[in-house]
Amino acid sequence: MTIDVKKIARNDLFQLSHQPTLRGRFTVPGDKSISHRSMIFGALAEGVTTVKGFLRSEDCLATMNIMRQLGVVIEDDGTEIKVHGVGLHGLKAAANDLDCGNAGTAMRLLSGLLAAQDFESTLVGDESLSVRPMNRVIKPLCSMGAVIESEDGTAPLVFKAASNITALDYVSPIASAQVKSAVLLAGLFAEGVTSVVEPKKSRDHTETMLKGFGAEVEVDGLKVSVKGLPTLKAQDIQVPADISSAAFFMVLGLIHPDADFVIENVCINKTRDGVIHILQAMGGDIELSNVRDQAGESVADLRVKSSKLKGIDVPHDLIPSAIDEFPVVFVAAAHSEGEFKLTGAEELKHKESDRIEVMVAGLKKLGVDCESLADGAVIRGQHDITLNNACVDGHGDHRCAMSFLVASSLNAGYDISVKGCHNIATSFPDFFDLMKGLSVDTQLVVPVITIDGPSGVGKGTTCALVAEALGWHLLDSGAIYRAMALKAIGEGIKPEDEVALQSAAEQIDLRFEVTENLDIAIYLDGKQVNDELRTEACGEMASKIAPNPAMRTALFDRQKDFQQAPGLVADGRDMGTVVFQAAPLKVFLTASAEERAKRRHKQLQQKGVDVRIRDLLKDIEARDLRDSSRKVAPLVPAEDAHVIDTSDLSIEEVLELVLTLAKKYGLQS
Ligand code: S3P
Repeated sequence: MTIDVKKIARNDLFQLSHQPTLRGRFTVPGDKSISHRSMIFGALAEGVTTVKGFLRSEDCLATMNIMRQLGVVIEDDGTEIKVHGVGLHGLKAAANDLDCGNAGTAMRLLSGLLAAQDFESTLVGDESLSVRPMNRVIKPLCSMGAVIESEDGTAPLVFKAASNITALDYVSPIASAQVKSAVLLAGLFAEGVTSVVEPKKSRDHTETMLKGFGAEVEVDGLKVSVKGLPTLKAQDIQVPADISSAAFFMVLGLIHPDADFVIENVCINKTRDGVIHILQAMGGDIELSNVRDQAGESVADLRVKSSKLKGIDVPHDLIPSAIDEFPVVFVAAAHSEGEFKLTGAEELKHKESDRIEVMVAGLKKLGVDCESLADGAVIRGQHDITLNNACVDGHGDHRCAMSFLVASSLNAGYDISVKGCHNIATSFPDFFDLMKGLSVDTQLVVPVITIDGPSGVGKGTTCALVAEALGWHLLDSGAIYRAMALKAIGEGIKPEDEVALQSAAEQIDLRFEVTENLDIAIYLDGKQVNDELRTEACGEMASKIAPNPAMRTALFDRQKDFQQAPGLVADGRDMGTVVFQAAPLKVFLTASAEERAKRRHKQLQQKGVDVRIRDLLKDIEARDLRDSSRKVAPLVPAEDAHVIDTSDLSIEEVLELVLTLAKKYGLQS
């Protein structure tokens, strides 16, 4: 299947599955940091800068578009980009707001640039970028004379026309290349020397590239200085492959049982290669060859082989140079023996998501023993770990989503789906294609909403209404068990007769048809049996035969067959815990036994059946006990289910609650 990464919607769910062996040679797309900077520095230079290997991801295209809006002519023939530089003072006011999308790098670097222009401009971003901290750049830029308006230090950021930008010696409290770059970029427009001192060395592309473009740059340990008002000269830039994208494949190869492949031409800049050192320290077999210089950047081919990994304490010195790769390193940690510990990485909380919480929540759901710390995480993995079937949420953070996808691919038998993948194209539009090239297939998973609970909670009606509201298919799994019960009664099969029940389940001729008034007509052996299925005797028998494991297994695939596009609402007792464990939304309805007895009594009375509430209550309590205490698929809410007590709710209120949850989870047709 081909995945159009640009069209991934919020409610799309994905799953990867791989072949028994992974072999090959390939490369990953261009480096994101260098691509952003190639557009900005190319624009400020005199002459035409050519860029090969530019990363055509949404983030970098946002920067390219913004430079165009600022009056820079940028040609793109699909292989090479030509940036017609306008010189240091040649940018023009844009007619509209400048949209950085999801890109923190675009917003922070361009803040430095726009803070120093003699015209006003506004930077905006998407939902995630609009809550990320911008004071880290606003503060130093304002002390250089910039006037920036923002609410609570978040986007939108309004840059007033600058009149006098002055040089600054800035001691940054955080190791951040974005902060360093913003200050240095503004410093280009100030007389004298602007410098930034960092607590640890962050990626050095700004200083390296500015030097290449002809600025006077000095690097002295953790201090970087640039002399203002330079004349920048156009360059020919060859963007090497992004180590941050290569990292997903490194981890995939290391934790795969039989992988041996080469990722070519990867940028191994010393301020970016922390992930290689960390994975090697964990016992990862990553071999560098053909190390060479390519247009000022060090590149190499990386041979990655399956490895037995072990947990480590991550050395603090390596954190800045691996800052973007921790989500996937956490996946490697889950497959390592012993304890993996990361501290001192508070910055991870301020990325496209809170990467510590998002990754720990997802890994926990997959059954990994881990916990989050204020500035890192502890993960106690196992080499041959078996993950839980579940749906994990990448929360729209491209790197978390891709990391969970790597985890989902490990075992052909897993049913792990990943939601929140819609921003993968911000950094890695070719992710699925490259995975496919390596024999790792992507499946688009049809979403399921499971609604489980005992009888009398309003499950059936709620499910039918939810399915109708969403235009999704409906599975009434209880009806399957009731039909089995009816068959057993008809054929005189005893509830204890496991063999007969299994073979009846394998052969059962059952059909569901949606009638004109949207009811479901159920046919057993060609005969419509809706009314018979609703009798107390049938319900009683269904509860008695339900624990039979062989019969349940035989019915499992049948129920799975209902998972058809655009989506499925599955009504039952073990839909969320057994059959659709990877469902993105699980609901468990409860109600007091008294209330359920009352509801059932009313239903039966309407049908002219006269029974005493007291007897119904006794039956319900006995059945609850049997259902919730049975060994196989007991009636319990899935760990990740939303439990709704319907005792005091009308069916409309329950429907609204479920539809609100569906909306929150992005589940709409
Ligand atoms: C980047 C710097 C890093 C990194 C981001 C790209 C850059 O952010 O996380 O993906 O290109 O300068 P910080 O500088 O905030 O650590």
